[in-house]
Amino acid sequence: MTEAVAFPQNRTCPYHPPTAYDPLREERPLSRVTLWDGRPVWLVSGHAAGRSLLADPRLSTDSTRDDFPLPTERASALRRRRRAALLGWDDPEHNVQRRMLIPSFTLKRAERLRPRIQETVDRLLDAMEAQGPPAELVSAFALPVPSIVICDLLGVPYEDHDFFEEQSARLLRGPTGADTEDALARLEGYLGDLIDRKRRTPGEGVLDDLVARQREAGGPDREELVQLATILLIAGHETTANMISLGTYTLLRHPERLAELRADPGLVPAAVEELLRFLSIADGLLRVAREDVEVDGTLIRAGEGVVFSTSVINRDAAAYADPDSLDWTRSARHHLAFGFGIHQCLGQNLARAEMEIALGTLLRRLPGLRLADPAGDIPFKPGDTIQGMLELPVTW
Ligand code: HEM
Repeated sequence: MTEAVAFPQNRTCPYHPPTAYDPLREERPLSRVTLWDGRPVWLVSGHAAGRSLLADPRLSTDSTRDDFPLPTERASALRRRRRAALLGWDDPEHNVQRRMLIPSFTLKRAERLRPRIQETVDRLLDAMEAQGPPAELVSAFALPVPSIVICDLLGVPYEDHDFFEEQSARLLRGPTGADTEDALARLEGYLGDLIDRKRRTPGEGVLDDLVARQREAGGPDREELVQLATILLIAGHETTANMISLGTYTLLRHPERLAELRADPGLVPAAVEELLRFLSIADGLLRVAREDVEVDGTLIRAGEGVVFSTSVINRDAAAYADPDSLDWTRSARHHLAFGFGIHQCLGQNLARAEMEIALGTLLRRLPGLRLADPAGDIPFKPGDTIQGMLELPVTW
């Protein structure tokens, strides 16, 4: 037996799975890995097994269970506080929360938001062009686009973005568990106050709609509302920001693919889908088995932890020919970058609209876009959080 690989690992190149996971690719679809606290868990690396296990109700996302796998000290500190809305619950409770939100995140709703997203993208690029070149693309563009859009949609004042972006960054990659807990407490305090203000003076936004439902029988109570607002605000800006920054970096490192996109902007939606597969920024979905589950002749026992490495799953040669290459002509749509099953990303329609408009417009408006220092080291995020660029200095 070879020694179990430790999970999670840092990527060596920001757009490829960590090379330390190479042995896992040989062992598909399941391997044993070890978490930071020494606990052995299953790691899912096969595409077919990933889909079937993510849709299996015998696997739970209840992070308050003692046997739930916690990949970092940060995650373990958060578990001590309470579980997240939606993602931390199994059905039927999960379904009650999700049903309240579905109307706000439909494809139709995302399509209606496109003109506003386009306006935001244009305004940010106007400002970037007025001040540059060069520019730091994360702070000038990749982060503000989804941050402004989710604020608009939820009814959160964008003036407060420095505060919630900072708490969100501490929550996802703060130095200690205590720091993470403090960031969550501050974010919840802020959103609790905002919700109380909305109760007195209603506005227009998803949070205002939820506040209105609070008065109905079976509507969310204040605590549940704060939990929902927290996950929507964090998931709504951090993830898409990372896709825009890492997506741009990846395109700049693949000039032939970039030239294809510039020559035919109609390829942008397919390119977004392929980038979602290729980059798999949410690389480590967590579950615990409530009952014994057998997959491909392997038995996962009740109480065992299961981790899904989406970056390895989405590079399974049984699902994608030549999986390590970027290819706009492949059908990437069945990737698991948004998860699968009941917890599949609620914001995926919105995220696609944002990525298509942000990347498409960036390439059209700045035909000379390139890395400011192609030979330099550009910092990217560590492996124990959502993947993306910490900074992206560009010029044009
Ligand atoms: C490209 C950007 C995004 C990526 C890659 C992404 C990825 C994911 C993944 C992998 C999951 C499933 C986690 C699991 O099963 O353990 C998820 C769930 C979720 N995402 Fe996203 N997401 C993105 C953007 C967004 C946006 C813009 C929102 C907007 C609010 C959002 C809201 C959520 C919510 C609320 C859940 C939990 C759903 C549930 O448990 O029912 N995400 N996301």
